[in-house]
Amino acid sequence: MTNKILEIGGVPCTNLVKACGTPLYVYDETKLINQFDLYHSYFKSKAFTTEVIYASKAFSCIEMVKLVKQCHASLDVVSGGELQTAKLCNMDMNNVYFHGNNKTEEELAMAFEYSCNIVMDNVMECQRIVSIANKLKKHINLLLRVNPGVEAHTHEYIVTAKLDSKFGISITRDAQLAEIMNLVKSSEYTNFIGFHSHIGSQIFDTEAFKVAIETLVNFTNKMSKAYSINLPVLNIGGGFGVRYTDEDKPLAVKDMCSVLISTLEKELAKNPTTIKKVMIEPGRSIVGEAGYTLYSVGFQKETGHQTYIFVDGGMTDNIRPALYEAKYEACITNKMNMPLNSKVTIAGKCCESGDILVEGIKLPEVVEGDILAFYTTGAYGYSMASNYNRLNKPAVVFAKDGKARIVVKRESIQDQLSNDINEEIAF
Ligand code: LLP
Repeated sequence: MTNKILEIGGVPCTNLVKACGTPLYVYDETKLINQFDLYHSYFKSKAFTTEVIYASKAFSCIEMVKLVKQCHASLDVVSGGELQTAKLCNMDMNNVYFHGNNKTEEELAMAFEYSCNIVMDNVMECQRIVSIANKLKKHINLLLRVNPGVEAHTHEYIVTAKLDSKFGISITRDAQLAEIMNLVKSSEYTNFIGFHSHIGSQIFDTEAFKVAIETLVNFTNKMSKAYSINLPVLNIGGGFGVRYTDEDKPLAVKDMCSVLISTLEKELAKNPTTIKKVMIEPGRSIVGEAGYTLYSVGFQKETGHQTYIFVDGGMTDNIRPALYEAKYEACITNKMNMPLNSKVTIAGKCCESGDILVEGIKLPEVVEGDILAFYTTGAYGYSMASNYNRLNKPAVVFAKDGKARIVVKRESIQDQLSNDINEEIAF
């Protein structure tokens, strides 16, 4: 019996590894495109227009942003780096939304230069933006991130909508909200278009979104009346869950969108507002399940309690198990039809006891040289990669219809060493 080999985008993993080495991030490009298509098909209403914004923090590189553009989606950026990537890819800046709680002077200058939309986070930022706009006499579209106080059930570290969250302003902080509304109204250059909220990440529970939408529609209505301001936009954020393991039961994009759209339609009918357009901002659910990480198996060790299988990457390419106790599934790409007769723990090569990728996973008999694939590593894998222990960041490959292309080249030690200098500072 010949061994069945895992294919990604129609390309056998053994071929990808032969050509590109390991560790390797591989995206199935068709899956990426399908996710955009699904959101475009189902996040739609006759009552308002819609916009699908990809949260590029989940995974950003030039080819990814080009794909976002090709798939007619907009882009959420959260740093000058992500914004410059958008610029380089000729994204229409009307479709770029710049988030973040502490944008630097340089980043704000860049936002004005490019004329992207800015999602403000706090009063000080608003003051800074109004003063830049007045000084430059340049118009800019603004939103404000607010915190509707809805807690989505997800991992503690990635809940962002608690009332004392570092992000946005709670809808109960009347004085701060008043200051912002008066500031944006004071300048002819600041065009305040509406509110934004993001209630958490890896959310399965539609109830949290329903409550958030009801709260945000009421809030927009209240603010629009109180400050006699037209607020045509509502951005309800991202956070839609994906499947990492059998324990995860995410709604299909179609079903999640149908809950969002029907709740929005109901709330907007109940509570007529100036809202004409609703935006969503998925990151993980666009790229998560389309991404895989391939590793080569090295040494093994028996401790009496468990068998460790060591791989040539680890927390440097996937920090999520160590940081969030995130769970993953994996397979041996060159033994897809073999029985799962061993139970092992897969650990990385970093000098850190917490560098465990998965514990107690069932796999076929594993030997040195086997190629492991971890599923659902497409979101917050490459984008949170580090150089701990001076490991080089892996390459990224897009595979589609039996062909593959490298979209991020493997980092070399030369790349890292080229930043190590010894230069006297001239004061
Ligand atoms: N919009 C805003 C304003 C956000 O802060 C985020 C994520 C998103 C959209 C996209 O959320 P998504 O659809 O990807 O859940 N590093 C963590 C996730 C942090 C998410 C931060 N904000 C992880 O690996 O789980």
